[in-house]
Amino acid sequence: MAILIQIGEFHSQEIWRDGFAAVDPGLDLRLWPDVGDPAEIEAVIVWHHIHGSLKQFPNLKLICNLGAGVEAIFKDPDLPDGVPIARVVDPRLTRSMAEYVVLHVLRYHRHFAETQDFQTAKKWKYIAPDDAAATTIGFLGLGELGQFSADKVRAMGFQVAGWSRSAKNIDGVTSYHGPDGLAPFLASVKMLVCLLPLTDQTRGIVNADLLTQLPDDSYFINAGRGQHVVDDDLLAALDSGKLSGATLDVFHVEPLPQDHAYWSHAKVTITPHNAADSFPADVCPQILANIKGVLRGDAPLNEVKVGRGY
Ligand code: NAP
Ligand code: GLV
Repeated sequence: MAILIQIGEFHSQEIWRDGFAAVDPGLDLRLWPDVGDPAEIEAVIVWHHIHGSLKQFPNLKLICNLGAGVEAIFKDPDLPDGVPIARVVDPRLTRSMAEYVVLHVLRYHRHFAETQDFQTAKKWKYIAPDDAAATTIGFLGLGELGQFSADKVRAMGFQVAGWSRSAKNIDGVTSYHGPDGLAPFLASVKMLVCLLPLTDQTRGIVNADLLTQLPDDSYFINAGRGQHVVDDDLLAALDSGKLSGATLDVFHVEPLPQDHAYWSHAKVTITPHNAADSFPADVCPQILANIKGVLRGDAPLNEVKVGRGY
């Protein structure tokens, strides 16, 4: 069995090769573009791979994505037919996302930006905290990351609502689903957290139409993907006062271009796509176990659905 690593953006192939070798030093690991005999490649481990490049392996049994979001794989119009695709579902990544959500929910809820401004001005100014029990945090997406993060903010006493494709029954979460569930969901939330996957259905979902359905003075946190948002519509909602602020971790173009209006917008907090990441020590063991299982004939773990896009 040979495994090919092909990483196109943001990560180093060598670091990942070392991570896999640390789990099993006997592996036959190939680093793109040094494929060797294509017939020997039985699994590929990818992140932002080159389109069309996976079709050349006649014995490919599994495509492993190095992260949770798989939209970069589905962008390839030339994927090999019938080869299962697995993604990362990792406790550390999930915890890390919940930390991010809790941090930015609390930062807004406790007026932290204003408090820092008062410190800068050497002003002792008391701001009464809002009541968490009267504040609804709404999650667009109630999957691995949405559900875990929702659970953590609920534990702090916030009201929690969520919107997903299929109906859910989650303790303490008011759940809405499907196109008809979106309007009542949006009307109920004070802070909207996007943890959707990027698909044909969710691209551009955070647009003027959606934003007008939020209560006035709402807050928006995007840790899904930049392409979920129509940037001009979000900027208009911030400028009109419809939204009181936004925390954005993901962008159409990353790194965010220097001349982007978000950088200097007083109501925008930017983080550099660092809400939750995959680290070799955490995810190499699960990816290798998945590959070995599939080669033994087991069903793939954490498989994504081609027709669904996530
Ligand atoms: P997941 O487990 O696949 O959950 C996706 C959720 O979105 C599910 O609840 C799903 O509904 C819902 N959904 C999908 N399409 C929908 C639609 N058309 N309408 C309504 N709901 C829809 O994904 P995850 O592991 O939670 O990850 C979510 C995303 O987070 C990833 O795809 C990635 O883009 C992003 N992410 C960002 C970072 C970062 O650092 N910023 C890190 C990791 C991941 P069902 O439950 O009904 O299927
Ligand atoms: C990170 O953005 C991921 O999808 O894992």
